[in-house]
Amino acid sequence: MRHRRPVWLLALALACGNAAPPVASPPPAPTVAVLVADAGAPPAAAPKSATAFPDGWSYPAHADAAPSANGVVASDAALGTNVGVEMLAAGGNAVDAAVAVAFALSVVYPAAGNLGGGGFAVARVGSETRALDFRETAPAAATRDMYLDAGGKNGGGSHDGYKASGVPGSVAGLFELHRAMGSKAKSWSDVIAPAIKLATEGFVVDEGFVESLGYLGDRLKKYPASAALFFPNGVALKVGDTLKNPALAVVLKRIADKGPSGFYEGPTADAIAADMKANGGLITAADLKGYAAKWRQPLVFQYRGHTVTSMPPPSSGGVTLAMICHILEKYDLGAMPWHGAEELHYVFEAMRRSFAARNAKLGDPDFVKNPVDELLSPAWADAQRATIAPDHATPSETIPSAASSGNGPHTTHFSVVDGKGNAVALTTTLNWWYGSGVTIPGTGMIMNNEMDDFASVPGSANGFGLVQGEPNAIGPKKRMLSSMAPTIVSDASGNVELVTGAAGGPMIISSVFHIVSNVVDYHFDPVAAVSAPRFHMQHLPDVVSFEKGGIAPDLEARLTAMGYTLKDRGHIADAMAIGRVQGGFIGAAEPRRKGSLAAGR
Ligand code: DON
Repeated sequence: MRHRRPVWLLALALACGNAAPPVASPPPAPTVAVLVADAGAPPAAAPKSATAFPDGWSYPAHADAAPSANGVVASDAALGTNVGVEMLAAGGNAVDAAVAVAFALSVVYPAAGNLGGGGFAVARVGSETRALDFRETAPAAATRDMYLDAGGKNGGGSHDGYKASGVPGSVAGLFELHRAMGSKAKSWSDVIAPAIKLATEGFVVDEGFVESLGYLGDRLKKYPASAALFFPNGVALKVGDTLKNPALAVVLKRIADKGPSGFYEGPTADAIAADMKANGGLITAADLKGYAAKWRQPLVFQYRGHTVTSMPPPSSGGVTLAMICHILEKYDLGAMPWHGAEELHYVFEAMRRSFAARNAKLGDPDFVKNPVDELLSPAWADAQRATIAPDHATPSETIPSAASSGNGPHTTHFSVVDGKGNAVALTTTLNWWYGSGVTIPGTGMIMNNEMDDFASVPGSANGFGLVQGEPNAIGPKKRMLSSMAPTIVSDASGNVELVTGAAGGPMIISSVFHIVSNVVDYHFDPVAAVSAPRFHMQHLPDVVSFEKGGIAPDLEARLTAMGYTLKDRGHIADAMAIGRVQGGFIGAAEPRRKGSLAAGR
């Protein structure tokens, strides 16, 4: 339960936070977040308090870009965002653009964008909102204790290398999303074409890309096809280099021509299965052929008159977000000073209790019964609130759970809104930066290490420090529990107000909560909502993480006196949001992530 801090964990921590934030040359520093009261129709109430970010906080409270009434895209990579904007300009809807962005990110942001991973999307077209699960599955040959060594510990097999991968879901998911909700103005091959072009002609490597190679990039050197791509002649790619990936272009072309069967069967599937077999991996041709994305009932709940639609299991994102909001709804956060000790105390206590339940009780709904109705009942929230003291922290050890702790990366979230107000929130991942580190030879494609999201040893920490319970134990063909929380918030009239999500393992949930609360409780404009300092609490360890420069000394002292142990994590998560403002929608790309971009058309 008490985890060692091996080298890989240090790298993970650096990538998602801790002492040295991976953020250089932040944008010019404003000091005041101005709260905007004109957020769409019906107009939001006047801001309840003016808010100063702490002195020295690096991130901007205002967007450079103007709002757009014609569509907005926000993603981790400028080239990905541009592909989405061009797809909107060419007559595609938000779904067409989202699918195009996802494929483009598999080329230009291979640390997290992927064909070899999986994810979740919450999409709204017209008045219909749907939730798509394209999470990886455990291979059929996976077993509950497959990673245990003689001492009963996970020897690291779920972290990197061939055994760490689940059966990829992205291609099936993107196909299904486009088929069911695309505009029909843009064909399947249309939405893949920009990615093929980028892979064939190459793109110029930027600072964000190079930075990403610094996180766990050394693992890539162990696998020849990965080394050849990212460390040509043994030297890491540098800013200004052009990266071409012709093998990936061929894989993408097959997908464009044949749909999912161009990936899950035929030469690509054969290459994956053969390389897995040759290197002790478990994924077979039958696993690939058998993969299916699944539509799930969206997780919908109310928060202070706003409708929040997020991802249900096998992601814990929506349920945990809903638990936090339900607990907090009876506290008038908006009447409390923003990020004062009082507000944060209630937020931390709500997170503590919600994560305890998440870690102990949730898993793949096709395999275990998730007590979602109970966890989302008013009685559950009332019972939690009854245990929250107004003036001091509750020790986590007094709240039972199978689990929890730590963190790390890498994932990518992007948001798209089109000119009709259709919206997509999509989060996709290889799990860690560059997943398992393995590029399947001949494909230019990196595989995930998503198997580590299972409780490989129920009751012990995974790579994120999450100590999860039996419901998330490994099982053949089972989906591993996720924290991804692609989320759409709409107002009382049903208009889309906010399209958001994040990367950062369990910190996804806290970050999405902060963004929603910043907008709903404090009427922040979307840019300030994303830029604002974040906190994270996940039951165990009994620690509240804060961001470097994100807490004023007097607040830290006050919270410490209330019984909190506070820890600097550098930065917490990478989030994106698009929000409704006067004049349309405005995009807020994560200022903590170099290379991210929000743009309208
Ligand atoms: O599904 C999950 O919860 C994790 N695989 C997400 C990993 C992640 O966000 C890492 N990124 N920073």
